[in-house]
Amino acid sequence: MKRLSIAIDGPAGAGKSSVAKILARRMGYTYLDTGAMYRAVTYESLRRGLADDAAIVAMAKALDMTVAPGEGHMRVFLGGEEVTAHLRTPEVSAAVSRVSAIPDVRAVMVALQRKLSAEGGTVLDGRDIGTVVLPHADVKIFLTASPHTRAVRRYKEMGGREAGLTVEAIEEEIRTRDHLDSTRAVSPLVPAADAVYLDNSNLTLEETAEAIMAICRKKAGEEA
Ligand code: CDP
Ligand code: CDP
Repeated sequence: MKRLSIAIDGPAGAGKSSVAKILARRMGYTYLDTGAMYRAVTYESLRRGLADDAAIVAMAKALDMTVAPGEGHMRVFLGGEEVTAHLRTPEVSAAVSRVSAIPDVRAVMVALQRKLSAEGGTVLDGRDIGTVVLPHADVKIFLTASPHTRAVRRYKEMGGREAGLTVEAIEEEIRTRDHLDSTRAVSPLVPAADAVYLDNSNLTLEETAEAIMAICRKKAGEEA
């Protein structure tokens, strides 16, 4: 059967990475978490105290970023040093949309993402996969859910009240990030014209994965 390239885009907490990992495991494909790559550039900018765009771009161009499959999250290495554990802090989440809006940062990341997925048999998740990174992807999904549902998911995932969180604060953070990501000039978060729009507010992860698998099976059958 043809090895497909699968693009999953959508806002924070839609279930993209969870579903992409399930698909990759079941189909024997490679999963590439492009959000983690933007988070790694952001982490390095914060670590070096870089403020202006030109300095961030110069750093990104020289960055030796490599990735590897992980038990949970995809692993990311900068110059051989693993940074995976540092990528989902509130500091990185608050700064990542600003860093990823810089056009030359995107150009560097998109080139790397295309290189890493050139062989097919890949599932990529992000914001611009179906529109920019892989405009010829075999399967394109725009996965979304209501902001409140997405915030509740993140709240539970991050430890809830015991971790000192509130659903309201998380909803505010993801609404701000969604707005910045959807309104930026370069590669905004928008569904590709040929993407399947899937709202999974009322679907479990398993049902969501099954719906996408069905689309993939149909596509693979057509191409066989
Ligand atoms: O997991 P979550 O949805 O919270 O975020 P993520 O997928 O790790 O992405 C973090 C941020 O990286 C997003 O809010 C975007 O600003 C940026 N991003 C992007 O611009 N383009 C992508 N292909 C992936 C992520
Ligand atoms: O990658 P993205 O930010 O789109 O979302 P995620 O990190 O895959 O999912 C956020 C959380 O929502 C995870 O804890 C998932 O298990 C959960 N989720 C869910 O409970 N039901 C769904 N239909 C989708 C995701």
